[in-house]
Amino acid sequence: MARIAYVNGRYRPLAGEAIALEDRGYQFADGIYEVIKVLAGRPRDLERHLDRLERSLAALEIAPPMSRAALRSVLHETLRRNRLPDALLYVQVTRGTAPRNHAYPRQARPSLVVSARKPSFPGAREREEGVGVITLPDLRWGRCDIKSISLLANVMARQQAAAAGRREAWLIDQAGNVTEGSASNAYIVDQEGRLVTHPLSERILGGITRSVVLELARADGIPVVERPFSLAEARDAREAALSSTSSLLLPVTAIDERTVGNGHPGTVVRRLMTLYDAHLL
Ligand code: PDD
Repeated sequence: MARIAYVNGRYRPLAGEAIALEDRGYQFADGIYEVIKVLAGRPRDLERHLDRLERSLAALEIAPPMSRAALRSVLHETLRRNRLPDALLYVQVTRGTAPRNHAYPRQARPSLVVSARKPSFPGAREREEGVGVITLPDLRWGRCDIKSISLLANVMARQQAAAAGRREAWLIDQAGNVTEGSASNAYIVDQEGRLVTHPLSERILGGITRSVVLELARADGIPVVERPFSLAEARDAREAALSSTSSLLLPVTAIDERTVGNGHPGTVVRRLMTLYDAHLL
């Protein structure tokens, strides 16, 4: 079945031209996005995603293209037209179309695109055995909290991970700390059994999955510490994990050439995976 996308007021086949050459998203990556998980027809943690979408837009002074209620309807209609009970919804808002000039144009109308695709969640093997990550310098800009479509440093990092046969690249800042992955948040479990992850700041994207996982951990009595952790600490950690909308929560069992702990997913991460699975039921 041909995929259908919502593009500025119309539902149309995803293939084919739809966006102007002078759309500022195309020329400047002047826009933001969200990826929302849909299971059994229900978008998950939708209000958190819409909150973050609004925060990203506000940070760039882009007006919301429509009300939250109208956007919810577009998301549901896009799902319906694509007949996908399980899906990843992609929502992108750019500043709109205007003659190329760096400063914000006065009159551009924000451009909104919504598409849906079949998800490919991690398989049993990755969940049971864990995944490996490489580490790379964090070359990104100073506002990683904005979910910007400007993803070149992330794309380059993920490509290096793929070339190395690894699931993800963990990004290391100038102080030697792990900020996050190219498209996921990063965690370790320290020797005291505490879940440690980089605090919210302009250095990381505040993941929706991260926010849920931390709530689930705290409610379950797992101590959570939001502080930077170094690569050296990560290598000596008992356990490690990553999370994102599409990866869910996954154990990380190798960092570069080192195995984490005994090389198998540990009890804290496995417990959190069970809790996150239950959250999605
Ligand atoms: N990536 N950090 C970065 C840099 C990300 O791009 C993402 C998400 C996350 C996790 O956020 P969340 O839990 O809200 O998905 C963290 C999405 C899925 C993507 O770019 O496809």
